[in-house]
Amino acid sequence: MQEIRVELTKTPKAKPADETKLGFGKIFTDHMFVMNYDAGEGWHDPRIVPYGPIEMEPSAMCLHYGQSVFEGMKAYRTADDRILLFRPEKNMARLNVSNERLCIPQIDEEFAKNAIAKLVAIEKDWVPHAEGTSLYIRPFIFGIDPQVGVHPASHLLFIVICSPVGAYYPEGLNPVKIYVEKNYVRAVRGGMGYTKTAGNYAASLKAQDEAEKQHYTQVLWLDGVERKYIEEVGTMNVFFKIDDEIVTPALQGSILSGITRMSCIEILRSWGMKVTERPIAIDELAEAARTGHLKEAFGSGTAAVISPIGELKWGDEIMSINNGEIGPVSQKLYDTLTGIQWGKIADPFGWTCEAK
Ligand code: COI
Repeated sequence: MQEIRVELTKTPKAKPADETKLGFGKIFTDHMFVMNYDAGEGWHDPRIVPYGPIEMEPSAMCLHYGQSVFEGMKAYRTADDRILLFRPEKNMARLNVSNERLCIPQIDEEFAKNAIAKLVAIEKDWVPHAEGTSLYIRPFIFGIDPQVGVHPASHLLFIVICSPVGAYYPEGLNPVKIYVEKNYVRAVRGGMGYTKTAGNYAASLKAQDEAEKQHYTQVLWLDGVERKYIEEVGTMNVFFKIDDEIVTPALQGSILSGITRMSCIEILRSWGMKVTERPIAIDELAEAARTGHLKEAFGSGTAAVISPIGELKWGDEIMSINNGEIGPVSQKLYDTLTGIQWGKIADPFGWTCEAK
């Protein structure tokens, strides 16, 4: 294992005074992890250094062709001041899945997980204390070759930054309103929909902007071919409770394999609930809403946690779900997942580990 060089800042920043007003991803901590890749040398020079601007040429290829991948993870403060990470090995495995699709060299997952734990341990005073807050961790990798020809990069940077955050949506645990997108698509099978790459989020901006203008929080994407099957919501996977069954779109290459999604499925099944991963047509969902069989809907994501959906707008049709209130399964899932993450309840799955 390579040694991680540590250079601590001489000018630490003031921590946020009011942890109830953190918002999401606007404040950054004192340090970041950086590692270089150069063809012939591999990944090298891992270091934790003061957070600050990075230098690259205007011709750096990530700026032109988007060869970049990222992850989203969180560190949580327990009541007895331990700092927990949630399934970090899953994020590192998914990062390598994204790397493979984007022609980015594989990282050593165990090394990267330990580097992140080390960074978080150095930044432990930045992990906020207030209810519902956490330290968001953003690992990302991008190609920096100074060239405008379209080729996989030979020189890359792997950086991890951290940000103390509150709820991703201003609604918090209050149900969000979602707009079913009919005109734009996010990804198609064979594309990059299953990866966490910048381009997928760039593809989402216009639809998101138009939805917000109509006072909807996010868009629900339909498949890019038939424009019929439900895929995912902007920053989260999506679940529906139809009668007593929980259904969620199957992973078929165009949607993200969410770690919160995976955890929700495991928790729900551990309660003996029936969870089915399958294609779900939007007209099937609308029919279930019309006939009273659609009982609950919620999104899942690291940033969004569990986010109940109170309304879906599909063309002229408005589907109101559980009278716009959080349903009992969504609430219990939120309590259980966040209970494990913040160390408030036992972790029967062994999902958390301490960053120290
Ligand atoms: C996350 O949930 O961590 C994400 O990466 C979503 C993000 C785009 C805010």
